[in-house]
Amino acid sequence: MTIDPSTAAFDPLAGLVDRDLLHDLAFVDGQWVGADNGSTFRVDDPATGAEIASVPRMGGAETRRAIEAADRAFLSWRSMTAKQRARILRDWADLMRAHVEDLSLILTVEQGKPLAESRGEIEYAASFLEWFGEEGKRVYGDVIPTPIPGRRIVVLKQPIGVTAGITPWNFPAAMVTRKCAPALAAGNTMVLKPAEQTPLSALAICELAHRAGLPRGVFNVVTGSAEDAPSIGEEMTSNPTVRMLGFTGSTEVGKLLMRRCADSVKKISLELGGNAPFIVFEDADLGVAIDALQACKWRNAGQTCISANRILVQRGVIDEFAARLVEYARGLEVGTGTDEGSQIGPLIDKQGFEKVKAHVAGAIDGGAKVVTGGGPHKLGGLYFEPTVLTDVTPDMVMSCEETFGPVAGLIPFDTEEEAIAIANDTPYGLCAYFFTKDMATGWRVGEALEAGIVGLNTGFVSTEVAPFGGVKESGLGREGSYYAIEEWVETKYFTFAGL
Ligand code: SIN
Repeated sequence: MTIDPSTAAFDPLAGLVDRDLLHDLAFVDGQWVGADNGSTFRVDDPATGAEIASVPRMGGAETRRAIEAADRAFLSWRSMTAKQRARILRDWADLMRAHVEDLSLILTVEQGKPLAESRGEIEYAASFLEWFGEEGKRVYGDVIPTPIPGRRIVVLKQPIGVTAGITPWNFPAAMVTRKCAPALAAGNTMVLKPAEQTPLSALAICELAHRAGLPRGVFNVVTGSAEDAPSIGEEMTSNPTVRMLGFTGSTEVGKLLMRRCADSVKKISLELGGNAPFIVFEDADLGVAIDALQACKWRNAGQTCISANRILVQRGVIDEFAARLVEYARGLEVGTGTDEGSQIGPLIDKQGFEKVKAHVAGAIDGGAKVVTGGGPHKLGGLYFEPTVLTDVTPDMVMSCEETFGPVAGLIPFDTEEEAIAIANDTPYGLCAYFFTKDMATGWRVGEALEAGIVGLNTGFVSTEVAPFGGVKESGLGREGSYYAIEEWVETKYFTFAGL
């Protein structure tokens, strides 16, 4: 069946139980506000192309006021005890869990991923609030034995001040809390801009922050379209009151923001593009490897920074692996995210869809063979068929850039050295996966892979307790875990003399 937007005139959000979670205004200084000139932009459901909301088109002036609000809120927020802040973050997390169905519906309708995945993302998002609230209580300093008589040396960890966050559309809830939770737990305040495709989840999270008792101005969300992003970004990076920026998105934009932050020497945490290798050695359990692709290839229709982008399979098992993968891919249910059985939803937008098409076409031109899928799905719109390609080579565009689609390209290899060389031959280094039963191979390969995250015999690496982030052009800093809270504090060396 082809989905025709003109016949999709039903309200996909009709099932919301708590309609107050749905906001079409930005959240600044504890108030729901529009753009200064009243203009808005539309948010579309990628499943149908139909408009689901319109939200304010804000720019530099509105962002500046949000920064001022965050600055006013800073002193009292930092003066609260970590335990008081943790209580609020915990209540916020509990409210997210209590509203998981509504939040998942909003997320699915604006982003497209299947409801089951949205539920998982809401729990993942809540886990950052809960975990970092507790971790805020453990932002310890240090006492250093002094080399000078009559002195004491202590090290204080202090909040940075006003911070900014810019988050992507592929995880509209979890990337918001992965930034604001450590920032707020450590005593900072924040102004955040969500992706233009998916602002509604961020605004629903603000509603729950308000209900949890987060003081006004501590967390602010400004919305803007793709055309507004440069002026919002310019304000965030040039305003001297902002002392840190956390960003998840493309390497290209990350570099631009990094250059802009240099002028006022802001701290930055960047989670950028990836090009994850997924290496299957001959001795691997192929069933485990195929199942692992559910988490790191088919999840979110392949639209994650840690999606397996280059699937390297040792020559002796590549035919069997391909056959099993094709069977799996053919069994995947493609459909609207709100259909409970759906496993692969639509891609986010036309641009993303065209990129996936171009990567597949480029691979076919270069000699790759389509074993299943290979093009737009019969549902039409932004749906793409789960695709398996063989005879893919490392120099094809789909091996050099993130495809961000449900496309698995198999690259054969012969030796461990060759697999490592191919895996590392990229400017990116976010995540890598490999599969072997041999522990010696496991250690050697795990140590040799140039990536910030490595999964051995698993495709699932995401958790609030572990440091998420990349090396090389995949980013700077870490999100999640106690390593991340260190990003959101300043270290002060404080010495006492004359004692
Ligand atoms: C991302 O794609 O940036 C985040 C993926 C995750 O945290 O699982």
